[in-house]
Amino acid sequence: MKMVSVLALTALFAASASALKLNGRELPKDFKYGCGVSAYQVEGAWNADRKSASIWDRFAQMPGKTEKGQNGNVAMDFYHSYAKDIPLFFSATGIKTFDTTLAWTRILPQGTGKTANKAGIDYYRRVAQATHKAGGTFTATLYHWDLPEALQQRYKGWVSPKIVDDFGNYARVAMTALGDVVDEWISLNEPRTFCTEGYGPEPVSAPGYNGTLIDQYRCFHHALLAHARAAEVFADLKKQGKVKGKFSIKIDGAPAKPFDPKSKKDQEAATRIMDMQETGWALGPLTTGDYSHSLREAFGKDLPQFTKQESESLMRSYDSVYYDVYTSVYAKHIDGCKRGDDTWPFCVEETSDKNGKPIGKPTGSDWNFLVDDTLYSGLHYMHDRWGLKKPLIVGETGLAVKGGDKQSLAQKLNDKDRVEWYRTYFAQMDRIFKEGNTVNLQGFTFWSCISNFEWHSGYGPDFGVIYAPPGANKPRHVKNSAHYLKDVLVHGLSSA
Ligand code: NOJ
Repeated sequence: MKMVSVLALTALFAASASALKLNGRELPKDFKYGCGVSAYQVEGAWNADRKSASIWDRFAQMPGKTEKGQNGNVAMDFYHSYAKDIPLFFSATGIKTFDTTLAWTRILPQGTGKTANKAGIDYYRRVAQATHKAGGTFTATLYHWDLPEALQQRYKGWVSPKIVDDFGNYARVAMTALGDVVDEWISLNEPRTFCTEGYGPEPVSAPGYNGTLIDQYRCFHHALLAHARAAEVFADLKKQGKVKGKFSIKIDGAPAKPFDPKSKKDQEAATRIMDMQETGWALGPLTTGDYSHSLREAFGKDLPQFTKQESESLMRSYDSVYYDVYTSVYAKHIDGCKRGDDTWPFCVEETSDKNGKPIGKPTGSDWNFLVDDTLYSGLHYMHDRWGLKKPLIVGETGLAVKGGDKQSLAQKLNDKDRVEWYRTYFAQMDRIFKEGNTVNLQGFTFWSCISNFEWHSGYGPDFGVIYAPPGANKPRHVKNSAHYLKDVLVHGLSSA
């Protein structure tokens, strides 16, 4: 009897010791606390072991496309250092799950075919095993912007409907080969960003397609269909016991505030921007099976239609939604902005008010500001406007410190601004939890586990809570923000 109670007490202690907390509140049992990186941003080894070139390999290797001509050829050399890096991510920050993406070009170098490249699969298997060995779960995202260049050449990538079959095939190959070691799957990372920045007018990202606004929305449309196709593949493999866990999508978008809070037109513009351009373009189809009324009204028959079957497939295509959330924007109505290739149908986004005051505290990225209700409003928009009841997980948040690239190592490690960022985010999470039964917040993933290649901005802006200079065999240094995150969520100290 005595023995039993000692065992019971030990079990109780173990359970409560491992529960995550936020300011005295125990977080839900399966609350997901993790950090993320993506293949192109950290792996390097861009042409190792039969990996083919992706659109990002090609884009960043072209002169003038990225800051200082930097690229991800070597990046943080994670391809060779993952076995040391992953345990460090866990010990430094106390995360319970590690999220990274699979590079399509390592798994199917030509983008198509039924036979996976063994070296690519073996590598991701080792990454998953290193994660499990560190005591956590492994979340794999199928796509984080690094399309096989072969598919861009063949049919222009995401602006073609052909991508849907190829993505579905890639999902099947990857899931079949890795289904036993991946604990959770995500289809796409931020389709909004890769479509606007890569396929819309004035692109700054790969593939630099320079399309029309309608091309951008075609890209969105195919991305949603590709996601839904991958979800069907997942459901099929799950029935056969070949994959486990959940299947989700990762979307981003800034909540909008009216530029002039008193102007009715600016208030409407704020809703329109969110419905048409920020998270709403995706949430419409995911929750109702079609785009928002404002999008249909603006683009008319130019906006592709969903068949009944596609709408239904989309609505059942996800177990949870990952929300990447950084900044807020101001929405300003301008007359005549309702339609046309050159005129944005959702009016204008601004980051400063009429007196030139920025919407929040500036950071090291010109688009990213610390605003004290970004997360709160973004989550509420998803819940209140689209009735999203499925689990919502913060898929990414974080910042590059202003002037961070000029700091000494000691200054980089004493990253007060990043601590302030997460403190502000925790206060908003607290607010959500205190409300009780509204937003179904089930996870928090910070960006990023480690310094990485910030796309066209190169290595200057550093989002990592662990610092590493780019290159092979470089040292890793844990920043104060990593300790802060662990202190709050794992050790249960106050976030204030
Ligand atoms: C979103 C992207 O998913 C990630 O790749 C990027 O580094 C961060 N935001 C910061 O910009």
